[in-house]
Amino acid sequence: MKILLVGEGAREHAIADALTRSTYNPRIFAVMKLKNPGIARICENTGGNVKLGDSTDPVFVASLAEQLSVDFVFIGPEEPQFRGVADEVEERGIPCIGAKRGPSEIEMSKAFMRRLMWKYKIPGRLRFMAFKDIDEAIAYIEEYAESIALKPARQAGGKGVKVIADLQAYLKKEKEEVKKKHVRSIVEEHMRPYTDIEDRILIEQKVEGPEYTLQCFTDGRVVKPLPLVQDNKNAYEMDIGPETGGMGSISGPGEVLPFISEEEYKESVEIVSQTVRAIEKEVGEAYKGVIAGQMMLTALWGPTIIEFYSRFGDPEAVNVLPLLETDLVEVSEAIISQSLNKVKLEFRDSATVVKCVAPRGYPNRRDLAKGHPIVIEEDKITKEGGRVFYGSIDLSNGEMVTGGSRAVEIFAEAETIPAASKIAEKCVSFVFLKDGWKLFHRSDIGTESLLNERVEIAELIREIYRYRREKELIGKQIDWLPGKGRIEYEF
Ligand code: GLY
Repeated sequence: MKILLVGEGAREHAIADALTRSTYNPRIFAVMKLKNPGIARICENTGGNVKLGDSTDPVFVASLAEQLSVDFVFIGPEEPQFRGVADEVEERGIPCIGAKRGPSEIEMSKAFMRRLMWKYKIPGRLRFMAFKDIDEAIAYIEEYAESIALKPARQAGGKGVKVIADLQAYLKKEKEEVKKKHVRSIVEEHMRPYTDIEDRILIEQKVEGPEYTLQCFTDGRVVKPLPLVQDNKNAYEMDIGPETGGMGSISGPGEVLPFISEEEYKESVEIVSQTVRAIEKEVGEAYKGVIAGQMMLTALWGPTIIEFYSRFGDPEAVNVLPLLETDLVEVSEAIISQSLNKVKLEFRDSATVVKCVAPRGYPNRRDLAKGHPIVIEEDKITKEGGRVFYGSIDLSNGEMVTGGSRAVEIFAEAETIPAASKIAEKCVSFVFLKDGWKLFHRSDIGTESLLNERVEIAELIREIYRYRREKELIGKQIDWLPGKGRIEYEF
């Protein structure tokens, strides 16, 4: 059996690693922009190889799949999906795990996602406005002064999101200026490279609460959830600093997190299932691959959708794929033949922590974070009980150098999250840059104190949304306008 894997990060390394545990002993081939040392080693060990090139180019990837006569293609990242790689591969008669162009819109266009949730009345939706130009968005901001989240309307590599709390009347003007400035930067900077959707700016109501990711396999008919994971987006300890792709993540033990209940987990799965059905109705094509709800426990709904991913999260995939006991090739084949209902997903019942290690400069000055020779003492990490998943590292010229993003993701597994965090923390010290440039990571991820904070916040939120449910206030907004009295909106 031969498989072509698309993508070059730690997430794809975790996918390749899970595929190698298959009883089918597949040969793994990979197509990527940088030569990821972890994936390259797996390819070599399984009798496959790596092809460097533009992994978002549908014709390039599909031609390679054809030349290699692979049994199927597995796409890791979102951009190849947005560009139609799965469509081109399937047109040539080769099955593909990864959303086609139409279904992948659930991640690519945040406006599509919100409109879909409203049209099909899917729980966990937020009020939003989408704008095609700056002036319209600014006019709206001038009229409507509230706490909002401003986002690029397209998935823009996780960048450009700004959440603005606008609570004090005396700061209204200043807050308005910040909002307007950010709208301009969304259009002129973050959305500039993208011409594939018309909407430019998304404005959503601001919500608060602990976030979590629910990753699922789907064949379009059923949704099979993986254990929940929580990623930590801010660059620095105590959730401060710029937003990154994720600095590290926690899971388990079992399918829920310490701050998400079994009932909230089931409701989250129901939201993703309803969305998969709605996508097929809307775009006329079954969703085959991986879908993830990036969710938040809010006082408004309980489980609420912040975004969808048409793929595994990174680092979230690295928490759970190493625990997968079901054969990933069998899961993939069941997705292809739409018989996923026959597959029982099984995971080792451990707690996990993933810590991402990135060169200084990431995420805002990737030029500074790039090109540093890196040393990873994998044997010492293994001795401490950790595992290395290679991220943004390039081995093309025979030496490992940083690619500018998260270089390494350290995985640790234990009975509890804090115990796994301690293992991961020890392992991080075995990664360094030869030229003395500094690396950073978040030492607080998975610690008892951060975990307790999340549990306390979730408990507060839970009290409010349960009260709102009891009073049948979910899906309703109630305002009081002078002269008009009580105004109730249904949504
Ligand atoms: N961890 C966030 C993402 O995968 O986009």
